[in-house]
Amino acid sequence: KAAEKGGYDHFMLKEIYEQPKAVSDTLIPRLKDKDIIIDELGMTDEEIKRIRKIYIIACGSAYHTGVTAKYVFEGLARIPVEVDLASEFRYRNPIFEPDTFAIIVSQSGETADSLAALREAKAHHIKTLGIVNVVGSSIAREADNVMYTWAGPEIAVATTKAYSTQLIAQYLLALKFAKVRETIDETTFSSMIDSLKQLPEQISFLLSHKENVQKFANRYLASDHVFFIGRGIDYAISLEGSLKLKEISYIHSEAYAAGELKHGTISLIEDGRLVVAVLTQPDLYKKTISNILEVKTRGAFVMAVTTVGNTQVEKVADYCIYIPETNPYFTNSLAVIPLQLFGYYVALGKGLDVDKPRNLAKSVTVE
Ligand code: G6P
Repeated sequence: KAAEKGGYDHFMLKEIYEQPKAVSDTLIPRLKDKDIIIDELGMTDEEIKRIRKIYIIACGSAYHTGVTAKYVFEGLARIPVEVDLASEFRYRNPIFEPDTFAIIVSQSGETADSLAALREAKAHHIKTLGIVNVVGSSIAREADNVMYTWAGPEIAVATTKAYSTQLIAQYLLALKFAKVRETIDETTFSSMIDSLKQLPEQISFLLSHKENVQKFANRYLASDHVFFIGRGIDYAISLEGSLKLKEISYIHSEAYAAGELKHGTISLIEDGRLVVAVLTQPDLYKKTISNILEVKTRGAFVMAVTTVGNTQVEKVADYCIYIPETNPYFTNSLAVIPLQLFGYYVALGKGLDVDKPRNLAKSVTVE
């Protein structure tokens, strides 16, 4: 076992550290001559142009990548996206219209609800794509086409590197669709490709500064409740940060769209309550800063995850973790790193079984 962990204390930490390679392996082979080539998509440009709606269907963290991807597909390719939990999708009698495209995201390719949702879409003659990590798994076999994430085997129950590669696969699709549909110009397209290429190195940089998160995590081992807030793509990141923390540390946590705080969650803020605020979207900085002030006034302690250079946040948050600058559509790939490390170090500090949290399974093959 120790050898399998490659010198790391846990598979989760090992897999966190494998992210630069996993991201690079998923990304680089699909970039050719300044273009994105996804042969396995099996769609002509004409078919891509005809898409009228995308369903992204998944469970758990894979679902969270879909929540992020919705912003990316809609923002870049201007295609309406509905993101569904597979367990909801299969029973809600969804509307299947021609020119709808369904993407099923799954690390294992065996999640029972995701597989059932795929079958439901296929039964209605909707074109389906699996974004899957395990080669030859059920979803990979049954989807019309499969785009593999090359994360390699993931052992820890709490996903990290598979999550990161699922984001990359969806960024590539969204950018490809945007180019084909001419909803972004050539210059933007090339500069976004350049931003994607920098991600592995930027992730490595964040990992080399893990102490910033580790020392903070050790102060919060006794928390009962933690709240994660953000807007837009930062809300999507908050969902994943909150899940990472709760699944392995057993601390109750909730992610909230920052603007929704005043509709409920703010009543739970009291002296010393930890709030993790994510601010990576320049056009939303000011709005989230005002939400930080609202929780600060009620006694919260705020850890902010923000982009380097956003010094306004320092004035209001108690502790800041900076991520390197990237295209705002891709910030999730960087902001998730400190949030994964935060969950890991809190669970570790509490002496819990990080790789095998109670009651959870790596792959949920029953409904
Ligand atoms: C389980 C795992 C999660 C994962 C989810 C979906 O709950 O613990 O890490 O996100 O299943 O799994 P899948 O294999 O379909 O991505």
